[in-house]
Amino acid sequence: MAEHRISEALAQPDRALEMTLRPSLFAEFTGQLRVKERLEITVAAAQQRREAIDHILFSGPPGLGKTTLAHILAKAMGANLKSTSGPTIEKAGDLAGLLTNLEEGDVLFIDEIHRLQKTIEEYLYPAMEDFKLDIIIDQGPNARSVRLNLPRFTLIGATTRSGLLTAPLLTRFPIRERLDYYQAEDLQQIVLRSARLLGVAIEPAGAREIARRSRGTPRIANNLLRRVRDYAQVRHAGRVTLAVADQALAMLEIDENGLDEMDKRILETVIVKFGGGPVGLSSLAVAVGEEPDTLEEVYEPYLIMEGYLKRTPQGRVATELSYQKLGVKPAGGKQASLF
Ligand SMILES: Nc1ncnc2c1ncn2[C@@H]1O[C@H](COP(=O)(O)OP(=O)(O)O)[C@@H](O)[C@H]1O
Ligand SMILES: [Mg+2]
Repeated sequence: MAEHRISEALAQPDRALEMTLRPSLFAEFTGQLRVKERLEITVAAAQQRREAIDHILFSGPPGLGKTTLAHILAKAMGANLKSTSGPTIEKAGDLAGLLTNLEEGDVLFIDEIHRLQKTIEEYLYPAMEDFKLDIIIDQGPNARSVRLNLPRFTLIGATTRSGLLTAPLLTRFPIRERLDYYQAEDLQQIVLRSARLLGVAIEPAGAREIARRSRGTPRIANNLLRRVRDYAQVRHAGRVTLAVADQALAMLEIDENGLDEMDKRILETVIVKFGGGPVGLSSLAVAVGEEPDTLEEVYEPYLIMEGYLKRTPQGRVATELSYQKLGVKPAGGKQASLF
């Protein structure tokens, strides 16, 4: 398949690649300066008091560094990190097992925390607040609740959908940080660093081009760097210049603005099939052949931020910029009034 699907690059990250390229110190973590500064203060203060850091929730689109920051924080605290995710905790017992195996100061990282079952979530409340766990032992007439003391641990949650978190869970995170799409300059630094680690010969302008077309997302930038490297190696003796990066990205069908085939299919569908919208998420998902969640979590945020789509209470609406992009004129009447 020639076409480069962003959802795949994001959903099935190359674990080995991520291990190689993932920064392990704040100093190596580029961008997100304000988030980074606040977290560094939190760590320094907790260390001075010899306490565990407060629970932290990271939210934001996939591939922006949530997992990376959890690891950086644990390392900075000299703490162990135990990693799990919302959907893998199937029973309250799974959670109890994780919590009771923690040691003082450990970090428990729960990825996709919005997918935790509500019944299990309730066990987390006293664990987070009072470091207590109420478990039921025995069954039937002998069943009784026992309260266990837990060590002071830090829960770090990550979610692409903070809007789906329940209020009681949300409010139990004293620190909530939202990661935003990266500036092209920051992504360029990330690409240059990754190229160094991977031994890729790259010119600053080549890195800049990859950065500019990576949808503000480090994971995509790293992924594209690898594809561009292949192209440079086979066609151009390995060196990634601006022209080589441009040709490679064009071959991957990533356009000048970093939109891929799927993005364009989405815009085209809204405009051509649904007359510019409004169209509901599920109808749109069926029409483009993608999961509604993927549309909402991966594609839409970027299209909305860049001004191609608008989310209204009635559904998704194409903007003038989308019409320009596809080279079609908005139909008169109702649509025109939206601009
Ligand atoms: N600020 C950053 N600086 C350098 N590389 C980064 C940064 N943020 C993310 N990355 C790279 O992007 C990859 C994806 O980041 P990750 O933390 O797994 O994203 P998320 O958990 O938000 O989906 C990491 O393996 C890392 O190589
Ligand atoms: Mg992650």
